[in-house]
Amino acid sequence: MKDFKDKVAVVTGGASGIGWGLAERCADEGMKVVIADIEASALKQAEKTLKANGAEVLAVRTDVSKLSDVQALAKNTVDAYGGVHLLFNNAGVNTDISLRKPLWENTIQDWEWMIGVNLWGVIYGVEVFLPIMFKQNTECHIVNTSSMAGLLVEPQLVIYAVTKSGILSLSEGLYIQLKEKNSHIGVSVLCPAFVSSRLFEAERNRPASLKNTAELPKSLPTAQLVSQFNKVSPTLSPEQSADIVFKAIREGTFYIFTDPLVQELFRQKSKNILEGENPERPNIGLMKP
Ligand SMILES: NC(=O)c1ccc[n+]([C@@H]2O[C@H](COP(=O)([O-])OP(=O)(O)OC[C@H]3O[C@@H](n4cnc5c(N)ncnc54)[C@H](O)[C@@H]3O)[C@@H](O)[C@H]2O)c1
Repeated sequence: MKDFKDKVAVVTGGASGIGWGLAERCADEGMKVVIADIEASALKQAEKTLKANGAEVLAVRTDVSKLSDVQALAKNTVDAYGGVHLLFNNAGVNTDISLRKPLWENTIQDWEWMIGVNLWGVIYGVEVFLPIMFKQNTECHIVNTSSMAGLLVEPQLVIYAVTKSGILSLSEGLYIQLKEKNSHIGVSVLCPAFVSSRLFEAERNRPASLKNTAELPKSLPTAQLVSQFNKVSPTLSPEQSADIVFKAIREGTFYIFTDPLVQELFRQKSKNILEGENPERPNIGLMKP
């Protein structure tokens, strides 16, 4: 996709971090922007800021883990702007518990919450928006946000990695199927390394029905556990990340990396697998609890 002006973009998780950077960038490109987010106050603020900058914006409170919410998002988008050309299935969460506890001490609620938002959110986005795009005769593009964790299993982010590798597989398959049909719909998968955001404060949006009853151990603050990131890789701003994403969409690039470190670590992992080695902890700089 090369022309963005006056086209319609939908950004899930658009009120913060990477999604906010994308929403701002869509507005800068002259697009009509639909921001979808579960966090009502942040969504309102995002809408206000974009409108103040002269953008045409629709804010739709959406829980992407609910099919009915994603269907309502699509309906609101089509009612307001007549279609959708660029879809960012970006909303995602990570749990603090995984950072601090081994996999076997994570709960079924942790699994359900993260799979619901990260993986079902993308599945619903694709299922609901693709038929709308098929009916349109103009170029369209879908960007699904996976992660470096889609390629590399950091043991403190196992549930997260399960969801993100699912997004990677879904996106690869979708890309190939659409390409084989010479479709006007392009697909990319975003595998960021470190972008400044509120991802490690995601617990703020966990629904009450999926909250853990046991207290979270606070031996090390989350900020300390993740602070090592910067020592192995620079943290990008959401604006820098959006620059990379838009360049990739324009050039039709499928795999979008924000840091070559991810490819380097994946190369090492692939080499180990091919040489029959057993798994190792990838050095992404996360402090062990
Ligand atoms: N920041 C990074 O370094 C990084 C690295 C790899 C992947 N990612 C991925 O990037 C995406 C964006 O995350 P971010 O880092 O900007 O974090 P963020 O917390 O700043 O933004 C995520 C947004 O998603 C929203 N959200 C949470 N649950 C939702 C739900 N059920 N329905 C709709 N919206 C919901 C949040 O309110 C928030 O606005 C996520 O998919 C994340 O997994 C981020």
